[in-house]
Amino acid sequence: MKSSTLEKKLCIAKMIKTNSSQDWPEPIIRVQSLSERCTDSIPERYIKPLSERPSDDVVAVDDDDDVNIPIIDLAGLYGGDPDARASTLKQISEACNEWGFFQIVNHGVSPELMDMARETWRQFFHMPLEVKQHYANSPKTYEGYGSRLGIEKGAILDWSDYYYLHYLPLSLKDHNKWPTQPPSCREVCDEYGREVVKLCGRLMKVLSINLGLEEDVLEKAFGGEDVGACLRVNFYPKCPRPELTLGLSSHSDPGGMTLLLSDDQVPGLQVRKGNNWITVKPLRHAFIVNIGDQIQVLSNANYKSVEHRVLVNSNKERVSLAFFYNPKSDIPIEPAKELVKPDQPALYTPMTFDEYRLFIRLRGPCGKSHVESLKSPR
Ligand code: OGA
Ligand code: NI
Repeated sequence: MKSSTLEKKLCIAKMIKTNSSQDWPEPIIRVQSLSERCTDSIPERYIKPLSERPSDDVVAVDDDDDVNIPIIDLAGLYGGDPDARASTLKQISEACNEWGFFQIVNHGVSPELMDMARETWRQFFHMPLEVKQHYANSPKTYEGYGSRLGIEKGAILDWSDYYYLHYLPLSLKDHNKWPTQPPSCREVCDEYGREVVKLCGRLMKVLSINLGLEEDVLEKAFGGEDVGACLRVNFYPKCPRPELTLGLSSHSDPGGMTLLLSDDQVPGLQVRKGNNWITVKPLRHAFIVNIGDQIQVLSNANYKSVEHRVLVNSNKERVSLAFFYNPKSDIPIEPAKELVKPDQPALYTPMTFDEYRLFIRLRGPCGKSHVESLKSPR
């Protein structure tokens, strides 16, 4: 096991050395402006290889009305009824293990705040291009208004624009990189961040307890007061050829846990379940929670960080807010000691979130979840 850790570190060091250029490899084109110009075709850059296209994928899209990720009512956790609490904990435990995804209702964040946050960002994306360009991002930090991930020249791109910003640690929070327009944007975003961070803290406790750990074990492993939190607002413009492209390519979330506020009018998110893609039917005012790679590692794969992707459509734009709750970036993350036993050996060797991000960024897109490829050989 030792040598494999060393190999990973060496490989990372080499990647840092060979990747010092940090700007976009070609001019950035806003997908939103393409969407306004293109009425019956899309540029080749956005056309996915056959095997990745929505309908030609190896796996069928399951549109069965009965299939959905679990919907869990959190009211049972705090109502004082021990049976309701136990049942809710069990539902969450099963969802983390079998799906890696679930929707939560009665989660304590105000519906008005959720609507306001999403609609404020919708307004931002509908501002004139010059206003948005002021916040144009670079691959150094990705903060700001962006239209691609990765710096591979000639890469096939996703049909979406986004805005990325940091909340935590406070040393990375920079209000100057947040939009001043619409006028309420910074204030709404701040309040949204405060509330969602609190909710993430509550969920971390639940996830810890469900693993049989003290309630603060996961949070402590994340660095306690020093956790990271950031937001990616995704804007998926209408697309004249949705069958040829994806709003977001298949990926697993690299961080700890993601709370997604989806557009409740427009579905698009698909979650992998075995050999199927399940289209999530978003519930109004619910959060879609998913386990990220770091919690898969900490839980020694008891919880799954599951691949997901986003489809676009020809008649409606879609806005979603993905809130990422992450470990402090320089603490080594490894399976919780309490979960490693003679018959359940550690499946991963320690790696900090900083190292991990670099590893996946430079490794580029791959067919399966990155965390799977990190499993210790045995
Ligand atoms: C993400 C993500 C899904 C969506 O931002 O990581 O998976 O529905 N978003 O926008
Ligand atoms: Ni994601």
